Amino acid sequence: MLLKNIAQVLLPAASLVNAQFSIGTYTSLVGGLDTNSSLLGNYYNYWIKSTSGIWDLTRSALEPTTSTGVYTIPCHGSRKNITIEASRSALVIIDMQNFFLHPGLSPKADAGRGVVSATVNMITGFRKAGVKVLWTNWGLDNYDLITMPPAFLDGFSNNHSSTTTFGSDMGIVPGTNISAGAKLMRGSWNARPYGPLYDLQVEGVKSGTDLYFNKNRLSGLWGAQTPLGLYLQENEITTLFFGGVNADQCVWGTFLDAYYKGFDIVFVEDIAATTSPYYATQMVVYNANLDSFLANSTEILPAVS
Ligand SMILES: *[C@@H]1O[C@H](CO)[C@@H](O)[C@H](O)[C@H]1NC(C)=O
Ligand SMILES: *[C@@H]1O[C@H](CO)[C@@H](O)[C@H](O)[C@H]1NC(C)=O
Ligand SMILES: *[C@@H]1O[C@H](CO)[C@@H](O)[C@H](O)[C@H]1NC(C)=O
Ligand SMILES: *[C@@H]1O[C@H](CO)[C@@H](O)[C@H](O)[C@H]1NC(C)=O
Ligand SMILES: *[C@@H]1O[C@H](CO)[C@@H](O)[C@H](O)[C@H]1NC(C)=O
Repeated sequence: MLLKNIAQVLLPAASLVNAQFSIGTYTSLVGGLDTNSSLLGNYYNYWIKSTSGIWDLTRSALEPTTSTGVYTIPCHGSRKNITIEASRSALVIIDMQNFFLHPGLSPKADAGRGVVSATVNMITGFRKAGVKVLWTNWGLDNYDLITMPPAFLDGFSNNHSSTTTFGSDMGIVPGTNISAGAKLMRGSWNARPYGPLYDLQVEGVKSGTDLYFNKNRLSGLWGAQTPLGLYLQENEITTLFFGGVNADQCVWGTFLDAYYKGFDIVFVEDIAATTSPYYATQMVVYNANLDSFLANSTEILPAVS
């Protein structure tokens, strides 16, 4: 039924090259998989579920996979193992910034600080595997301040006042001599990656394994297009692994937009955390189980490092 519908949608374009276009012709486009019910999607964008339960996300009929960059990774949601192509995948790290994680600015973020070392391991492993690391962080400019809706200005203020919201001087970080800078403005100390992640990010961007994207909402993929979205589109990246803080807010927001925009999404449980109550994490894990792939770094790493 699905294939038939897709075939109908594709018919006008396909008939340009083949007047005899039929469902069989269409499925044969994906490499002789006629009547293969484990095929989901179309030539340009599809998964294959093998009889052994592995979901092949590589779209390798469209563009052959490299022999060195293909990995089968365990997942433990409703869908189990996945096969990915390194150059078509990316690790998206959301908001692991001083603002959200430094003890002086965010004393309650123990869970977030607790996933830093797993995040470092994941980044190191994915870099070795040739998977791009995409730092996606709050990093506002003056245009963002002008166009920021009141709900966000209020939500990020300390006392429901414009004097303490985005762009306001955060003063000295409690317990340090560090000047935190303007709240979540790009280039400020508070908007930098936290602790060891800062050096890791600088080094990765310098060597080209990592990229850094500023965002101006919880989601790094909202609206018509964002810097992160444009990069993914131009580089034909289809499979995204997610980690960061807060799991139920900025990670979840970006994760959902990625899902809505058609990326394969893998929620990596043990590199994501939140300051929200426990049920917020439960909601995220429950839904990641249903709608995407759920993994954790300790399981993935042996496969890719
Ligand atoms: C469907 O395609 C997969 C992947 O190429 C293959 O392993 C499987 O045997 C096919 N199934 C059938 C029924 O042709
Ligand atoms: C699938 O993942 C499980 C762990 O979740 C692992 O034990 C198994 O070997 C994997 N299978 C394949 C074919 O990779
Ligand atoms: C909010 O806090 C700032 C900084 O402490 C202060 O200057 C301002 O008067 C406060 N505004 C309100 C409405 O409480
Ligand atoms: C702040 O700087 C002074 C002078 O460099 C130093 O003695 C002091 O220990 C610093 N305090 C903190 C909390 O880092
Ligand atoms: C990691 O994977 C195992 C299953 O292999 C699971 O039991 C565990 O809850 C997962 N999550 C975390 C955060 O470790």
